[in-house]
Amino acid sequence: MSAADSGQGKVGHLMLEAKPDVPHAISSPLSAYRASALGGRVRVPGDKSISHRALLFGALATGRTRIAGLLEGEDIMHTLEALRALGCPITRTGAVWEVLGRGVGGLEPPAADLDFGNSGTGVRLMTGVIAGHDMTVRLTGDASLSRRPMGRVLKPLARMGLEVLDEGRDTLPLRIRGSADLIPIEYRLPVASAQIKSAILIAGMHAAGETTVIEPAATRDHTERMLSYFGAQVAATKRQGLRAVSIKGDAELSGRDVNVPGDPSSAAFLAAAALMVPGSEVTIEGVLVNPTRVGFYTTLREMGADVSLTNVRNEGGEPVADIRVRHAGLKGAGLKGVRVPPERAPSMIDEYPVLACLAAYAAGETRMEGLAELKVKESDRLAATAAGLAANGVAARVEGDTLIVEGGRGVPGGGVVATHLDHRIAMAFLTLGLGADRPVTVDDAGMIATSFPGFRPLMEGLGATFQAPEHAAR
Ligand code: S3P
Repeated sequence: MSAADSGQGKVGHLMLEAKPDVPHAISSPLSAYRASALGGRVRVPGDKSISHRALLFGALATGRTRIAGLLEGEDIMHTLEALRALGCPITRTGAVWEVLGRGVGGLEPPAADLDFGNSGTGVRLMTGVIAGHDMTVRLTGDASLSRRPMGRVLKPLARMGLEVLDEGRDTLPLRIRGSADLIPIEYRLPVASAQIKSAILIAGMHAAGETTVIEPAATRDHTERMLSYFGAQVAATKRQGLRAVSIKGDAELSGRDVNVPGDPSSAAFLAAAALMVPGSEVTIEGVLVNPTRVGFYTTLREMGADVSLTNVRNEGGEPVADIRVRHAGLKGAGLKGVRVPPERAPSMIDEYPVLACLAAYAAGETRMEGLAELKVKESDRLAATAAGLAANGVAARVEGDTLIVEGGRGVPGGGVVATHLDHRIAMAFLTLGLGADRPVTVDDAGMIATSFPGFRPLMEGLGATFQAPEHAAR
């Protein structure tokens, strides 16, 4: 029985034991081998963004929230454990998780630090929750999360009344003190980030009055959708051409049933694999196709890929579809390199590593612009992606915030990719290896469990071959 199956919420991965300053001690390298035709109809695990929010909003609601399809990845289990530590009962019966909400402002001080593992979303959204409670909390995370900027959420939340006890610090571990009397604010986001937007909107529910966030570019809107569904008063308007989202304070949420759709960011690896491997046809059922999340699939079409969305339906306030991807059936991938404009970045921010890997198989240059935010993800994804491609004989370079891949010249493979505790770097390069001449090895596949438990068996079920490299250093 897996930890998640037990309902105890204990997570098995070794990284959970790691302290911020201790390097990732034990890694599990894995190699991907050239595949012949991948095929099948599959489902991917639940969307990570929606899973975090379903737990958090369930905890802030009154009454019962039942969540089906929750992603049982380590990132989500950290959020779940943190909520339990804050006095919110969460249990699993069969495939459904049940949250017994404490109401907005009703959580209790935890007895110990709250550990968010590898999850930026978990810690940033939870900082918005803590902001509205009169309690002191110490937030911790793994080595990757402890390098990522927290100032971006602390700054606006401090204006609302959050106290940062480790003043001047921008990274975990951090001690913060919330307040039951938050002040509503209007805030222009300095970067397009759904995490910052969400942290402020969540804190806004605890304030007296209306809180407004103005986005430089529209980011994923799951917080707005789900908070409305739970009964909060949220409105989006245009201000000088920009999207402004407002929430009414002193909010009351009611527990709801949530069905979490498949994660389009996880599905992207399957789609890319099908486009790299001749003869492939893969259908991924029940994938979230919210317009703020589908930039990757738009880009695939522009590259000339055969991608179709069928059975489009609405499930619990989110659009969902089955995505079918077919290889061109030519000797090459039948894809062409494209320019991906900067304004598309928020809608595919987590898909650039795998898009860059796919671009290696497309004829000509692919230019991905406006990617500054990729430098502050689980790793510096711009640098990690370019280095991984270079290690496998693909010409790639970073120019400022632009990533450029020269594709269509063959993918020699044979390299070892440094993943830097980044699940998406690991999955992107294991995908690259499925079409490469020689195996592609990632130095650590362990982090994949943070967002996509079951990645390996699912890909193997489609026809992929992965193996631990015999001579890899352990
Ligand atoms: C997320 C927002 C994105 C994304 C992350 C999940 C969310 O981060 O990279 O994986 O659930 O809000 P930013 O909003 O900081 O770009």
